[in-house]
Amino acid sequence: MSSIRLANITKSFRDVKVFENIDLTIRDGEFFTFLGPSGCGKSTLLNLIAGLEEVSGGRIYFDDQDVTNLPPAKRDVAMVFQSYALYPHMSVFENIAFPLRIKKLDKGLIKKEVERVASVLGLQDLLDRKPRELSGGQRQRVALGRAMVRKPRVFLMDEPLSNLDARLRIEMRAELKRLHQKLGTTIVYVTHDQAEAMALSERIAILNNGTVQQCADPLSVYSRPANTFVAAFIGTPPMNIIETVVIEKSPPVLSLGNKKYKIAGADTLNLERVFLGVRPEDIVLKRVSRSGIESIVEIVEPEGARFLIDLLCDGVSIKAISNEKFNPGDKVYMELPEEKIHLFHHDTGRRIEFAPSPSGKNQTAGS
Ligand SMILES: Nc1ncnc2c1ncn2[C@@H]1O[C@H](COP(=O)(O)OP(=O)(O)OP(=O)(O)O)[C@@H](O)[C@H]1O
Ligand SMILES: [Mg+2]
Repeated sequence: MSSIRLANITKSFRDVKVFENIDLTIRDGEFFTFLGPSGCGKSTLLNLIAGLEEVSGGRIYFDDQDVTNLPPAKRDVAMVFQSYALYPHMSVFENIAFPLRIKKLDKGLIKKEVERVASVLGLQDLLDRKPRELSGGQRQRVALGRAMVRKPRVFLMDEPLSNLDARLRIEMRAELKRLHQKLGTTIVYVTHDQAEAMALSERIAILNNGTVQQCADPLSVYSRPANTFVAAFIGTPPMNIIETVVIEKSPPVLSLGNKKYKIAGADTLNLERVFLGVRPEDIVLKRVSRSGIESIVEIVEPEGARFLIDLLCDGVSIKAISNEKFNPGDKVYMELPEEKIHLFHHDTGRRIEFAPSPSGKNQTAGS
């Protein structure tokens, strides 16, 4: 077990900078995820921690040990990749035993260790099979077993579930979480799937454009996104981000569709325009409302227990989620509870903090 400190890490490939000044600490025993779009440098970061790539600047520490110049074999990390990289000609037993055979451990001990890991992963009855005789999920468990058998300081996992179909991915997600609770070993996980990151992690670092956009627990990332990138990246469907004109500065009043939206809890907004963010699940739709913002239903997608609704509000498309069925062409009113809205700087996209008014009431008035 180990904590990991990335101190001012910079990485370039020749003249192309992947990221700079990455500064964060992954706690001992933590399930920590790097989340970001394709090409943002997630795998590169994991490879730097594993020692498979060299940093261009900065230091990496495991606990207090500087491992920046240590080769991978000396770092005592186990990596699990997207492609399971199992040996096709070897049985499940031999695949899991492989790292121990290399260490030339005693045969009896190897058998004991493989059986221990196999029972944790529910592979006891599959030990004689070859990888081709396994399902995708079972193969992924064998790959995990091969990582676990070494009892590493740290697990590094690079999109380990992305080869699985949607249902299996959700099953394996829960298994991974159970495994982490059982083992308590530090896991550094990489994914581009925000739902996976939210479900698994104790903390998430969201990467984009070579920097950490936000590093926090899943709930904070969801409820207080640091900027419009994080706001739009977390949650499905993503947060609506609506450009609005500030028509009064103190207390701020925004122009929103046919309404003036007053934000009682915010201080003076010395800006001409702001982005107002609201999650689809936080919009309350009413057929009749004095305070709601008028809009027209465009598209209705049933999702079983709820409906995904595309609205058109004064030329702007907005997504909402409703338990009630509406029909295309219906006139509806959107109520935006003040405690559920987010404000972002128009120029920088950065979050503007404010304390919602205690009433939590919709603040629209007049038209
Ligand atoms: N060996 C290399 N030489 C040059 N450029 C590289 C090398 N490896 C990665 N890159 C570049 O660095 C950037 C980050 O790549 P990386 O593989 O870390 O992204 P990623 O976030 O893991 O993406 P994905 O989600 O698609 O796996 C990309 O622009 C990639 O093209
Ligand atoms: Mg990658």
